[in-house]
Amino acid sequence: MGGLKGSIIAAMALLLACAAPATANVNVTALCLLVNNGVYVASQTDCTTYYQCLGTGPTAMSCPTGYYFDKNAQQCSSTVPSTCTVSSNPCQGKAVGTFAPSSSTCGGYYYCGASGAVSGRCPSGENFNPTTMACVYSNQYPCQDSPSTESGSGGTVTSSVALNLCNLVENGMYFGSPTSCSGWNYCQDNVLHSGTCETGKYFNVQQKNCGYQQSTSCSQVTNDPSLTGVTIPTTCTQAGTFKAATACNQYYFCNPSLNYQLMTCQTGYFYDTISQMCVVRTQARNDCDRCVGTSASFVNAYSTSNCSDYLYCVNGVQKAVETCPINYYFNENTGSCSNSVEPPFLCCNPTLSTGEATTSGTTATTAGTTAKSDGTTATTDATTSTTAAK
Ligand SMILES: *[C@@H]1O[C@H](CO)[C@@H](O)[C@H](O)[C@H]1NC(C)=O
Ligand SMILES: *[C@@H]1O[C@H](CO)[C@@H](O)[C@H](O)[C@H]1NC(C)=O
Repeated sequence: MGGLKGSIIAAMALLLACAAPATANVNVTALCLLVNNGVYVASQTDCTTYYQCLGTGPTAMSCPTGYYFDKNAQQCSSTVPSTCTVSSNPCQGKAVGTFAPSSSTCGGYYYCGASGAVSGRCPSGENFNPTTMACVYSNQYPCQDSPSTESGSGGTVTSSVALNLCNLVENGMYFGSPTSCSGWNYCQDNVLHSGTCETGKYFNVQQKNCGYQQSTSCSQVTNDPSLTGVTIPTTCTQAGTFKAATACNQYYFCNPSLNYQLMTCQTGYFYDTISQMCVVRTQARNDCDRCVGTSASFVNAYSTSNCSDYLYCVNGVQKAVETCPINYYFNENTGSCSNSVEPPFLCCNPTLSTGEATTSGTTATTAGTTAKSDGTTATTDATTSTTAAK
């Protein structure tokens, strides 16, 4: 126990430490992409920890003992900020003088003093062993920092919490959206206010305003599930029914015990909300994230009017929405804008009938094998003959 003695003495006067909510799993790397360089963001799992967002990624920092990070003051303070989610007392039911493990980090613990829990952290490379109540070398007490991804250890999102970004980001500062190049956010009294730049403009995270597209535009858009707070439905009312999910290649199936089960279509297929089946991706009528599951740089945007818009994707993540020149249509099978005819894709051309869709669906599969992704304007369109019906 010797290694902990120093921290006990140093921490005696504290009232309460913030315990980590077990569901926290903010991806701080993705969070930092929303704010300009140098800004500090709070930790969702520990009121005494915070991160400095730099171009190279987040740097974790700790407040001195007895201090808590105040995201609005952008510094450590001796009072617990209201935005720090204090959950139940980790020392509840424990004798004074004992220790409790932190639920979020392997090296974290609480000292249960006469006046409450005091958070502490084992030296780097050591884990807290709750049985012996001591910091030991990590190989003596193997442990995985989980489910939090704050430590960079991964972890899958199984359910989601509607994350209030304003618990982490300071008031009064414009910051980016994790889902839209043109979206911006602003916290006032720790309440999130959101908006969109005027057409054609993108939110510039470093300049904190709307501007024209640049090479760095949109790097904040990661669609990270820990930030988007996607609500995952759990119970359903009619067995055998389906429901669209956020990702185009997924859907929910209501199973016999009336629970929604997340299902995934086979590679290259997307969920079609009309036929409620997985279909070739270009035929899916589904307002969903169409960059998912593709290594292509450019794909058609979902549309209910025409196929002239397309998305710029990087590693399956949408970075921008673009529009072909007037009277040109985008064809993701060729990866280019064409001025001949609109491609027979139901994903952006809802005027096609189901019969035509079936036919063109086959065409799409065939044409898909020749897809390229340079996105440059093509002068010919390989699918011209198949669209004569239009
Ligand atoms: C966190 O976000 C970054 C940036 O989008 C991404 O590269 C990384 O894979 C994410 N980490 C996890 C554990 O999801
Ligand atoms: C596609 O539809 C949009 C409006 O939804 C319109 O502004 C645009 O001109 C159309 N493009 C073509 C090529 O028809």
